[in-house]
Amino acid sequence: MKIPTSRTEAAAMDARDPLANKRADFHLPENVIYLVGHSLGPPSKSALSAVKHCAEHSWAEGLVGSWNSAGWFELAKTLGGRLSKLIGADPAEIIVTDTVSVNLFKLAAAALPLSGGARQINIDKAEFPTDQYIADSFADLSDIPCHRIEPGGEMNAIASGGIYIKSAVNFRSAELMDMARYERAAGESGAIIIWDLSHATGVAPLNMHADGVRLATGCTYKYLNGGPGAPSFIYTANDWLADLHNPLPGWMGHAQPFAFKTSYEPMDDASRFASGTPPILSLTALGGALNSFDSIDIKALHAKAGSLGDLCIARAEAAGLTIASPRKAERRGGHVSIKIDNGYPITRALFARGIHTDFRTPDTIRFGLSPLYVRFTDIWDTMEALTEILETRSWDRPEFKRTEKVT
Ligand SMILES: Cc1ncc(COP(=O)(O)O)c(C=O)c1O
Repeated sequence: MKIPTSRTEAAAMDARDPLANKRADFHLPENVIYLVGHSLGPPSKSALSAVKHCAEHSWAEGLVGSWNSAGWFELAKTLGGRLSKLIGADPAEIIVTDTVSVNLFKLAAAALPLSGGARQINIDKAEFPTDQYIADSFADLSDIPCHRIEPGGEMNAIASGGIYIKSAVNFRSAELMDMARYERAAGESGAIIIWDLSHATGVAPLNMHADGVRLATGCTYKYLNGGPGAPSFIYTANDWLADLHNPLPGWMGHAQPFAFKTSYEPMDDASRFASGTPPILSLTALGGALNSFDSIDIKALHAKAGSLGDLCIARAEAAGLTIASPRKAERRGGHVSIKIDNGYPITRALFARGIHTDFRTPDTIRFGLSPLYVRFTDIWDTMEALTEILETRSWDRPEFKRTEKVT
Protein backbone atom coordinates (compact mmCIF):
# COMPACT_ATOMS: atom_id res chain seq x y z
CA MET A 1 0.00 0.00 0.00
CA LYS A 2 1.29 3.47 -0.95
CA ILE A 3 2.39 5.53 2.05
CA PRO A 4 0.54 8.90 2.16
CA THR A 5 2.78 11.90 1.52
CA SER A 6 0.28 14.59 2.52
CA ARG A 7 -2.59 15.02 4.95
CA THR A 8 -4.98 14.92 2.00
CA GLU A 9 -3.66 11.51 0.99
CA ALA A 10 -3.92 10.32 4.61
CA ALA A 11 -7.55 11.50 4.69
CA ALA A 12 -8.19 9.64 1.43
CA MET A 13 -6.84 6.45 3.04
CA ASP A 14 -9.21 6.95 5.97
CA ALA A 15 -12.07 7.35 3.51
CA ARG A 16 -11.17 4.03 1.83
CA ASP A 17 -10.46 2.17 5.09
CA PRO A 18 -12.78 -0.88 5.37
CA LEU A 19 -12.33 -0.80 9.19
CA ALA A 20 -13.21 2.90 9.52
CA ASN A 21 -16.74 2.23 10.82
CA LYS A 22 -15.31 0.28 13.79
CA ARG A 23 -14.20 3.56 15.38
CA ALA A 24 -17.85 4.26 16.20
CA ASP A 25 -17.78 1.24 18.57
CA PHE A 26 -15.58 3.22 20.97
CA HIS A 27 -16.09 5.96 23.47
CA LEU A 28 -13.19 8.28 22.63
CA PRO A 29 -12.97 11.80 24.09
CA GLU A 30 -13.26 14.73 21.66
CA ASN A 31 -9.99 16.19 20.43
CA VAL A 32 -7.88 13.29 21.62
CA ILE A 33 -5.59 11.18 19.47
CA TYR A 34 -5.24 7.94 21.40
CA LEU A 35 -2.07 6.03 20.53
CA VAL A 36 -1.81 3.92 23.70
CA GLY A 37 -4.00 0.95 22.80
CA HIS A 38 -0.92 -1.24 23.27
CA SER A 39 -1.08 -0.35 26.98
CA LEU A 40 -4.73 0.29 27.88
CA GLY A 41 -7.33 0.08 25.16
CA PRO A 42 -10.20 2.61 25.32
CA PRO A 43 -13.68 1.47 26.39
CA SER A 44 -16.07 0.29 23.74
CA LYS A 45 -19.66 1.46 24.12
CA SER A 46 -20.65 -2.16 24.34
CA ALA A 47 -18.22 -2.79 27.24
CA LEU A 48 -19.55 0.21 29.16
CA SER A 49 -23.18 -0.81 28.74
CA ALA A 50 -22.39 -4.44 29.63
CA VAL A 51 -20.76 -3.34 32.92
CA LYS A 52 -23.68 -1.01 33.72
CA HIS A 53 -26.19 -3.77 33.06
CA CYS A 54 -24.21 -6.29 35.08
CA ALA A 55 -23.86 -3.93 38.06
CA GLU A 56 -27.41 -2.59 38.07
CA HIS A 57 -29.32 -5.74 37.13
CA SER A 58 -27.35 -8.95 37.56
CA TRP A 59 -25.58 -7.83 40.72
CA ALA A 60 -28.06 -5.37 42.25
CA GLU A 61 -31.25 -7.31 41.41
CA GLY A 62 -30.11 -10.87 40.74
CA LEU A 63 -27.68 -10.98 43.67
CA VAL A 64 -26.02 -14.32 44.34
CA GLY A 65 -28.47 -16.08 42.02
CA SER A 66 -26.70 -14.43 39.08
CA TRP A 67 -23.90 -16.96 39.39
CA ASN A 68 -26.44 -19.30 37.80
CA SER A 69 -28.97 -17.09 36.02
CA ALA A 70 -26.58 -14.54 34.45
CA GLY A 71 -23.94 -17.04 33.34
CA TRP A 72 -21.35 -15.76 35.81
CA PHE A 73 -20.13 -19.19 36.76
CA GLU A 74 -19.14 -20.10 33.19
CA LEU A 75 -18.11 -16.58 32.16
CA ALA A 76 -14.33 -17.08 32.31
CA LYS A 77 -14.70 -20.17 30.15
CA THR A 78 -17.23 -18.59 27.78
CA LEU A 79 -14.86 -15.70 27.16
CA GLY A 80 -11.99 -18.14 26.68
CA GLY A 81 -14.08 -19.70 23.92
CA ARG A 82 -14.60 -16.33 22.26
CA LEU A 83 -10.89 -15.54 22.53
CA SER A 84 -9.94 -18.87 21.00
CA LYS A 85 -11.10 -17.64 17.58
CA LEU A 86 -8.63 -14.76 17.76
CA ILE A 87 -5.61 -16.95 18.40
CA GLY A 88 -6.32 -20.08 16.37
CA ALA A 89 -7.20 -22.40 19.24
CA ASP A 90 -10.11 -24.56 20.39
CA PRO A 91 -12.59 -23.06 22.88
CA ALA A 92 -11.69 -25.61 25.57
CA GLU A 93 -8.02 -24.60 25.37
CA ILE A 94 -8.47 -21.16 26.94
CA ILE A 95 -9.52 -19.87 30.33
CA VAL A 96 -9.58 -16.20 31.30
CA THR A 97 -8.01 -15.91 34.74
CA ASP A 98 -5.60 -13.96 36.94
CA THR A 99 -2.79 -11.79 35.53
CA VAL A 100 -0.01 -12.54 33.07
CA SER A 101 2.48 -12.46 35.94
CA VAL A 102 0.61 -15.09 37.95
CA ASN A 103 -0.13 -17.18 34.87
CA LEU A 104 3.52 -17.27 33.82
CA PHE A 105 4.32 -18.76 37.20
CA LYS A 106 1.56 -21.34 36.92
CA LEU A 107 2.61 -22.33 33.43
CA ALA A 108 6.30 -22.55 34.37
CA ALA A 109 5.44 -24.92 37.20
CA ALA A 110 3.28 -27.01 34.86
CA ALA A 111 5.94 -27.07 32.14
CA LEU A 112 9.07 -27.89 34.12
CA PRO A 113 8.37 -31.61 34.70
CA LEU A 114 7.55 -32.02 30.99
CA SER A 115 10.54 -30.21 29.51
CA GLY A 116 13.50 -32.10 28.05
CA GLY A 117 17.20 -31.25 28.06
CA ALA A 118 18.61 -29.11 30.86
CA ARG A 119 16.42 -28.23 33.85
CA GLN A 120 16.50 -24.46 33.47
CA ILE A 121 14.59 -21.35 32.49
CA ASN A 122 15.75 -19.19 29.61
CA ILE A 123 14.43 -15.70 29.05
CA ASP A 124 15.52 -12.85 26.79
CA LYS A 125 17.44 -10.01 28.35
CA ALA A 126 15.03 -7.69 26.50
CA GLU A 127 11.90 -9.45 27.80
CA PHE A 128 9.18 -7.56 29.67
CA PRO A 129 10.38 -7.14 33.28
CA THR A 130 7.53 -8.95 35.03
CA ASP A 131 8.33 -12.06 32.98
CA GLN A 132 11.93 -11.80 34.16
CA TYR A 133 10.99 -11.40 37.82
CA ILE A 134 8.67 -14.40 37.67
CA ALA A 135 11.29 -16.48 35.85
CA ASP A 136 13.91 -15.63 38.49
CA SER A 137 11.63 -16.39 41.39
CA PHE A 138 10.35 -19.63 39.91
CA ALA A 139 13.93 -20.71 39.19
CA ASP A 140 14.97 -19.93 42.79
CA LEU A 141 12.04 -21.88 44.23
CA SER A 142 12.74 -24.82 41.91
CA ASP A 143 16.48 -24.70 42.47
CA ILE A 144 17.23 -24.38 38.76
CA PRO A 145 19.22 -21.71 36.89
CA CYS A 146 17.57 -18.81 35.08
CA HIS A 147 19.60 -17.66 32.07
CA ARG A 148 19.31 -14.28 30.36
CA ILE A 149 19.55 -14.67 26.61
CA GLU A 150 21.33 -12.05 24.51
CA PRO A 151 19.87 -11.08 21.11
CA GLY A 152 20.91 -13.75 18.59
CA GLY A 153 21.25 -16.47 21.24
CA GLU A 154 17.61 -17.61 21.12
CA MET A 155 17.99 -20.77 19.03
CA ASN A 156 21.03 -21.99 20.99
CA ALA A 157 19.08 -21.47 24.18
CA ILE A 158 16.15 -23.51 22.86
CA ALA A 159 18.53 -26.24 21.71
CA SER A 160 19.71 -26.67 25.30
CA GLY A 161 16.19 -27.50 26.54
CA GLY A 162 14.22 -26.48 29.61
CA ILE A 163 11.65 -23.66 29.68
CA TYR A 164 11.82 -20.60 27.47
CA ILE A 165 9.60 -17.61 28.28
CA LYS A 166 9.13 -15.45 25.21
CA SER A 167 6.91 -12.60 24.05
CA ALA A 168 5.32 -13.06 20.63
CA VAL A 169 5.67 -9.29 20.16
CA ASN A 170 8.41 -7.50 22.09
CA PHE A 171 7.01 -4.73 24.29
CA ARG A 172 9.75 -2.28 23.36
CA SER A 173 10.63 -2.92 19.71
CA ALA A 174 7.28 -4.38 18.54
CA GLU A 175 9.17 -7.20 16.78
CA LEU A 176 6.78 -10.05 15.93
CA MET A 177 8.37 -13.47 16.39
CA ASP A 178 8.20 -16.39 14.00
CA MET A 179 6.45 -18.60 16.54
CA ALA A 180 6.38 -21.68 14.30
CA ARG A 181 10.17 -21.54 13.90
CA TYR A 182 10.66 -21.35 17.65
CA GLU A 183 8.25 -24.22 18.26
CA ARG A 184 9.99 -26.40 15.64
CA ALA A 185 13.31 -25.87 17.41
CA ALA A 186 11.70 -26.60 20.78
CA GLY A 187 10.17 -29.78 19.38
CA GLU A 188 13.67 -31.02 18.53
CA SER A 189 15.30 -30.28 21.91
CA GLY A 190 12.38 -30.97 24.24
CA ALA A 191 12.32 -27.34 25.39
CA ILE A 192 8.92 -25.92 26.26
CA ILE A 193 8.13 -22.36 25.26
CA ILE A 194 5.70 -20.33 27.33
CA TRP A 195 4.51 -17.55 25.07
CA ASP A 196 3.52 -14.14 26.36
CA LEU A 197 0.90 -12.97 23.87
CA SER A 198 0.19 -9.64 25.61
CA HIS A 199 1.29 -7.38 22.76
CA ALA A 200 0.04 -9.70 20.04
CA THR A 201 -3.52 -10.68 20.92
CA GLY A 202 -6.13 -8.73 19.00
CA VAL A 203 -3.69 -7.18 16.53
CA ALA A 204 -1.36 -9.88 15.16
CA PRO A 205 -2.50 -12.98 13.27
CA LEU A 206 -1.86 -15.78 15.76
CA ASN A 207 -2.46 -19.46 15.18
CA MET A 208 -1.68 -21.67 18.16
CA HIS A 209 -2.50 -24.88 16.31
CA ALA A 210 -0.73 -24.14 13.03
CA ASP A 211 2.38 -22.95 14.88
CA GLY A 212 2.45 -25.90 17.29
CA VAL A 213 2.18 -23.73 20.40
CA ARG A 214 1.68 -25.65 23.63
CA LEU A 215 1.49 -23.01 26.37
CA ALA A 216 0.69 -19.31 26.34
CA THR A 217 -0.74 -16.47 28.36
CA GLY A 218 -1.59 -12.89 27.45
CA CYS A 219 -3.40 -9.87 28.74
CA THR A 220 -6.75 -8.53 27.58
CA TYR A 221 -6.47 -4.84 28.49
CA LYS A 222 -4.35 -3.80 25.49
CA TYR A 223 -5.65 -4.38 21.94
CA LEU A 224 -8.67 -6.33 23.23
CA ASN A 225 -9.81 -3.26 25.19
CA GLY A 226 -10.97 -5.30 28.20
CA GLY A 227 -10.44 -2.42 30.66
CA PRO A 228 -7.97 -1.44 33.37
CA GLY A 229 -6.80 -4.59 35.16
CA ALA A 230 -8.85 -6.88 32.91
CA PRO A 231 -7.86 -10.49 33.63
CA SER A 232 -5.43 -12.35 31.45
CA PHE A 233 -5.87 -15.72 29.74
CA ILE A 234 -4.12 -19.06 29.65
CA TYR A 235 -3.91 -21.28 26.59
CA THR A 236 -2.96 -24.93 26.97
CA ALA A 237 -2.84 -27.25 23.94
CA ASN A 238 -5.37 -30.08 24.23
CA ASP A 239 -2.76 -32.78 23.59
CA TRP A 240 -0.74 -31.70 26.62
CA LEU A 241 -3.55 -31.06 29.02
CA ALA A 242 -3.62 -34.43 30.74
CA ASP A 243 -0.06 -33.91 32.00
CA LEU A 244 -0.42 -30.26 33.02
CA HIS A 245 -0.85 -29.53 36.71
CA ASN A 246 -1.86 -26.16 38.09
CA PRO A 247 0.47 -25.38 41.02
CA LEU A 248 -2.29 -23.18 42.52
CA PRO A 249 -5.17 -25.67 42.37
CA GLY A 250 -8.06 -23.63 43.69
CA TRP A 251 -11.70 -24.58 43.80
CA MET A 252 -12.55 -22.77 40.55
CA GLY A 253 -10.34 -25.20 38.63
CA HIS A 254 -11.89 -28.22 40.36
CA ALA A 255 -14.05 -30.58 38.30
CA GLN A 256 -16.88 -30.21 40.87
CA PRO A 257 -16.36 -27.03 42.90
CA PHE A 258 -19.70 -27.30 44.64
CA ALA A 259 -19.21 -30.92 45.65
CA PHE A 260 -16.81 -29.42 48.23
CA LYS A 261 -14.55 -32.43 48.08
CA THR A 262 -11.43 -32.29 50.21
CA SER A 263 -9.18 -33.62 47.47
CA TYR A 264 -8.42 -31.89 44.20
CA GLU A 265 -9.64 -33.18 40.87
CA PRO A 266 -8.88 -30.86 37.89
CA MET A 267 -11.37 -29.86 35.21
CA ASP A 268 -10.83 -31.63 31.92
CA ASP A 269 -9.95 -28.50 29.95
CA ALA A 270 -7.87 -25.33 30.33
CA SER A 271 -10.25 -24.24 33.13
CA ARG A 272 -8.08 -26.29 35.49
CA PHE A 273 -5.76 -23.28 35.45
CA ALA A 274 -8.37 -21.16 37.21
CA SER A 275 -7.71 -20.85 40.93
CA GLY A 276 -10.06 -18.49 42.78
CA THR A 277 -13.32 -16.63 42.20
CA PRO A 278 -13.33 -14.75 38.86
CA PRO A 279 -13.73 -10.91 38.75
CA ILE A 280 -17.19 -10.76 37.18
CA LEU A 281 -17.38 -7.02 36.52
CA SER A 282 -14.03 -7.11 34.71
CA LEU A 283 -14.98 -10.21 32.76
CA THR A 284 -18.24 -8.54 31.79
CA ALA A 285 -16.33 -5.54 30.42
CA LEU A 286 -14.15 -7.89 28.42
CA GLY A 287 -17.23 -9.65 27.05
CA GLY A 288 -18.60 -6.32 25.81
CA ALA A 289 -15.21 -5.37 24.37
CA LEU A 290 -14.95 -8.61 22.41
CA ASN A 291 -18.12 -7.71 20.48
CA SER A 292 -15.93 -5.40 18.40
CA PHE A 293 -14.00 -8.45 17.20
CA ASP A 294 -17.05 -10.39 16.04
CA SER A 295 -16.66 -11.12 12.33
CA ILE A 296 -13.30 -9.33 12.20
CA ASP A 297 -10.44 -10.79 10.20
CA ILE A 298 -7.31 -10.36 12.33
CA LYS A 299 -5.19 -10.37 9.17
CA ALA A 300 -7.03 -7.21 8.06
CA LEU A 301 -6.38 -5.65 11.48
CA HIS A 302 -2.69 -6.46 11.25
CA ALA A 303 -2.50 -5.14 7.70
CA LYS A 304 -3.99 -1.81 8.80
CA ALA A 305 -1.68 -1.61 11.84
CA GLY A 306 1.18 -2.23 9.38
CA SER A 307 0.09 0.60 7.07
CA LEU A 308 -0.37 3.00 9.99
CA GLY A 309 3.10 1.98 11.18
CA ASP A 310 4.62 2.52 7.73
CA LEU A 311 3.24 6.06 7.75
CA CYS A 312 4.51 6.67 11.29
CA ILE A 313 7.98 5.41 10.35
CA ALA A 314 8.11 7.41 7.10
CA ARG A 315 7.18 10.64 8.90
CA ALA A 316 9.58 9.92 11.78
CA GLU A 317 12.41 9.31 9.32
CA ALA A 318 11.57 12.53 7.47
CA ALA A 319 12.02 14.27 10.84
CA GLY A 320 15.43 12.58 11.26
CA LEU A 321 14.33 10.35 14.17
CA THR A 322 15.72 6.91 15.07
CA ILE A 323 13.33 4.02 14.48
CA ALA A 324 13.52 1.19 17.03
CA SER A 325 11.03 -1.17 15.36
CA PRO A 326 11.34 -3.48 12.34
CA ARG A 327 10.88 -1.63 9.02
CA LYS A 328 8.89 -4.44 7.50
CA ALA A 329 5.24 -4.23 8.55
CA GLU A 330 4.84 -8.02 8.62
CA ARG A 331 7.57 -8.23 11.27
CA ARG A 332 5.89 -5.73 13.60
CA GLY A 333 3.04 -6.14 16.07
CA GLY A 334 0.78 -3.14 16.61
CA HIS A 335 3.07 -0.32 17.66
CA VAL A 336 6.09 1.61 16.45
CA SER A 337 8.88 2.80 18.75
CA ILE A 338 11.34 5.59 18.27
CA LYS A 339 14.47 6.22 20.31
CA ILE A 340 14.85 9.84 21.22
CA ASP A 341 16.60 12.08 23.73
CA ASN A 342 14.25 13.80 26.20
CA GLY A 343 11.56 11.27 25.33
CA TYR A 344 9.62 11.73 28.56
CA PRO A 345 9.06 15.53 28.36
CA ILE A 346 8.30 15.09 24.66
CA THR A 347 5.48 12.62 25.48
CA ARG A 348 4.13 15.15 27.99
CA ALA A 349 4.28 17.94 25.41
CA LEU A 350 2.34 15.71 22.99
CA PHE A 351 -0.14 14.93 25.78
CA ALA A 352 -0.67 18.66 26.37
CA ARG A 353 -1.88 18.78 22.75
CA GLY A 354 -4.28 15.88 23.29
CA ILE A 355 -1.97 13.25 21.78
CA HIS A 356 -1.55 10.23 24.04
CA THR A 357 1.58 8.10 23.59
CA ASP A 358 3.81 6.43 26.16
CA PHE A 359 7.43 6.47 27.23
CA ARG A 360 9.60 3.52 28.16
CA THR A 361 12.75 4.42 29.98
CA PRO A 362 15.47 5.27 29.07
CA ASP A 363 14.74 6.63 25.60
CA THR A 364 11.73 5.07 23.85
CA ILE A 365 8.44 6.63 22.78
CA ARG A 366 5.84 4.10 21.66
CA PHE A 367 3.04 4.90 19.22
CA GLY A 368 0.21 2.38 19.53
CA LEU A 369 -1.60 1.82 16.24
CA SER A 370 -4.73 0.00 17.26
CA PRO A 371 -6.47 -0.52 13.92
CA LEU A 372 -10.04 -0.49 15.23
CA TYR A 373 -10.04 3.25 15.94
CA VAL A 374 -6.74 4.90 14.89
CA ARG A 375 -6.92 6.85 11.62
CA PHE A 376 -4.21 7.66 9.10
CA THR A 377 -4.86 11.36 9.74
CA ASP A 378 -4.21 10.75 13.46
CA ILE A 379 -0.72 9.54 12.60
CA TRP A 380 -0.16 12.41 10.18
CA ASP A 381 -1.22 14.98 12.79
CA THR A 382 0.83 13.32 15.54
CA MET A 383 4.01 13.37 13.52
CA GLU A 384 3.42 16.99 12.49
CA ALA A 385 2.94 17.91 16.16
CA LEU A 386 6.04 15.95 17.16
CA THR A 387 8.14 17.68 14.50
CA GLU A 388 6.98 21.08 15.69
CA ILE A 389 7.58 20.21 19.36
CA LEU A 390 11.15 19.21 18.48
CA GLU A 391 11.81 22.23 16.28
CA THR A 392 10.50 24.73 18.82
CA ARG A 393 11.84 22.78 21.83
CA SER A 394 8.45 23.35 23.42
CA TRP A 395 9.02 20.15 25.44
CA ASP A 396 11.73 21.95 27.42
CA ARG A 397 9.51 23.15 30.24
CA PRO A 398 9.59 22.18 33.94
CA GLU A 399 5.99 20.92 33.97
CA PHE A 400 6.79 18.37 31.22
CA LYS A 401 9.80 17.05 33.17
CA ARG A 402 7.92 16.12 36.36
CA THR A 403 7.76 12.35 36.12
CA GLU A 404 4.37 10.74 36.77
CA LYS A 405 4.17 7.29 38.39
CA VAL A 406 2.87 5.74 35.16
CA THR A 407 4.78 6.82 32.08
C1 LIG B 1 4.59 -8.28 27.51
C2 LIG B 1 3.91 -8.07 28.83
N1 LIG B 1 3.88 -9.09 29.71
C3 LIG B 1 3.29 -8.96 30.90
C4 LIG B 1 2.70 -7.77 31.29
C5 LIG B 1 2.10 -7.63 32.65
O1 LIG B 1 0.95 -8.38 32.76
P1 LIG B 1 0.11 -8.42 34.12
O2 LIG B 1 0.05 -7.04 34.66
O3 LIG B 1 -1.22 -8.94 33.66
O4 LIG B 1 0.78 -9.35 35.05
C6 LIG B 1 2.70 -6.69 30.39
C7 LIG B 1 2.06 -5.42 30.78
O5 LIG B 1 2.04 -4.44 30.09
C8 LIG B 1 3.31 -6.85 29.14
O6 LIG B 1 3.37 -5.85 28.26
